Amino acid sequence: MKRIGVLTTGGDCSGLNTAIWRIMQGAKLRGWRVLGIIDGTDGLTSNPVRYIELTDDVLPVENTRLSGSILHNGHAGALNFETAAAKGTLKAFNKKLYNAIRELKLDALILIGGNGSFSLAWANRETYRDVQFICIPKTIDMDIPLTDRTIGFDTAVEQLTRFCDQLMLTARSHHRWFVVQSMGRDCGALALNAGIASGASAILIPEIKFNVDKLVKRIKNASTDYGIIVVSEGITLRGHSGKPADMISRALTRADIPNRTAFPEHTQRSGDTTATDRILATSMADAALNAIENNETYVMTALENGRVKTVSLAEFCTAGEQVTDPNIPSLVTSNAYVSMDDPLLEIAHDMGIYIGEIK
Ligand code: F6P
Repeated sequence: MKRIGVLTTGGDCSGLNTAIWRIMQGAKLRGWRVLGIIDGTDGLTSNPVRYIELTDDVLPVENTRLSGSILHNGHAGALNFETAAAKGTLKAFNKKLYNAIRELKLDALILIGGNGSFSLAWANRETYRDVQFICIPKTIDMDIPLTDRTIGFDTAVEQLTRFCDQLMLTARSHHRWFVVQSMGRDCGALALNAGIASGASAILIPEIKFNVDKLVKRIKNASTDYGIIVVSEGITLRGHSGKPADMISRALTRADIPNRTAFPEHTQRSGDTTATDRILATSMADAALNAIENNETYVMTALENGRVKTVSLAEFCTAGEQVTDPNIPSLVTSNAYVSMDDPLLEIAHDMGIYIGEIK
């Protein structure tokens, strides 16, 4: 009988509980036990290790659609690779982690996380030498290379779209514009998808340069006197500091365009998990368990052309764009962004949505 550990790290999103539940169900069918580690690596390095045995009583099926993680993702300042590296205690941290894995007698560890966790785990891979180490990608930012989708992205798009839908009604009533600032870090995928879905007139993303005067002109000449402009949190405007939505709002105000800003913030990470995210979480849980059965290690589950498979973490680490972690200068993470080949860019452009100076 195998013993599997599962933990969630990084920012939460919808779909984590579905993935955890499916891992538990699939493991049960194989006669394996699943230990859920509480608070990610913080719980794993606590003395005693904080974990729960995952059973149907702990996570009943009706709760698997709920956002957040039943295992928690750790509080700010929790002990993880990043905070340990910042404090210069990485060596001691790795030792604790290794000992905890041995103490729990784990055969495999499934880490449901993002590109930061995966890159750090790979850089410190010696720590996991005695277990099969499997990663499942989740994030609303969609900034993980080698997978066409990450768990949580679809629900975030739905949440942001609904937020914009509601604002559109009040925008119309008052003949004004809303500048909605989305999450996503340096990746514009969330803003692009929700902007198109909600009928936004303009979508500004970090990947595409934009011209404020042209944006203002577009809004002035729009066929309606109300609407939505979605700006991704990662955009910057030369000479301006502060929140991107505020910068754009000020430019509109200067041009006598009535407007307000709106910040959906962490509602993008919550909301009942969409069916699409539940299916993806189920497929990735299945792929993770199959990988354990096939004696794979240091792999990540990835969606490619509608099928979930595994890719090696070594491959992941050289894919996408290599970015130096501002908190740990010695660490390079692998990031993905909206590709200039993304058909949505052309579609948005053809539909008259201002998406910057694309052509
Ligand atoms: O990476 C997920 C994310 O929600 C980003 O989109 C956002 O910039 C960040 O996390 C917010 O982090 P926090 O929850 O710490 O404010």
